[in-house]
Amino acid sequence: MPALINPSILSADFANLERDLGAIATADYAHVDVMDNHFVPNLTLGLPVFERLAQVSPVPLDAHLMIDDPDRWAPQYAEAGAASVTFHAEAAAAPVRLARELRRLGARAGVALRPATPVEPFLDLLAEVDMILVMTVEPGFGGQSFIDGTLPKIRRARQAVSAAGLDVWIQVDGGVSRQTIERAAEAGADVFVAGSAVYGAESVPEEIATLRGLASR
Ligand code: DX5
Ligand code: ZN
Repeated sequence: MPALINPSILSADFANLERDLGAIATADYAHVDVMDNHFVPNLTLGLPVFERLAQVSPVPLDAHLMIDDPDRWAPQYAEAGAASVTFHAEAAAAPVRLARELRRLGARAGVALRPATPVEPFLDLLAEVDMILVMTVEPGFGGQSFIDGTLPKIRRARQAVSAAGLDVWIQVDGGVSRQTIERAAEAGADVFVAGSAVYGAESVPEEIATLRGLASR
């Protein structure tokens, strides 16, 4: 699979989200970070805003739900137009049931792991999801440094996906830049979220193309 680049609008201008979604029209998905001030110590946006973003975005939305009780809330993001909905393994009470519900609603289902959460207990979930998100920073804020200690987990996830013959995408999120994207790709990631690297670049389309090129070699 060619590398996918999903810019995170956490680094966009929240007073100009439609404009800043337009700026990433050459990306694969727009990554939308939903935070609830409980699962993580930060608060971003919820369903009413998400619904409007889905209506105006030139690219499909990749929802990353950093929230408590995703069993209750995640399906509503699928109904609001998300192409992909990722919930945290640490927060879900019934992850298999939730993943099935997301797929039934027509979304891709993703499961996310904090940097300190091991992948082994969740390998059984792989057959039920379309994507596993290995967080490469502690979730909550943009602009943090990529944690190299997560690379073995990316490798482990890739081995498990290959061994099972599954078509599960492996996403990395946090500190992804020109400096780190090749390490993540080499370890087996194929979907790359980048917030500050993309929106902080002089040319957003050029940065997207450069990151894609680096990840695809
Ligand atoms: C962090 C978010 C990320 C964030 C990444 O909790 O999940 O999506 O926007 O930002 P950068 O790319 O700046 O590390
Ligand atoms: Zn994210």
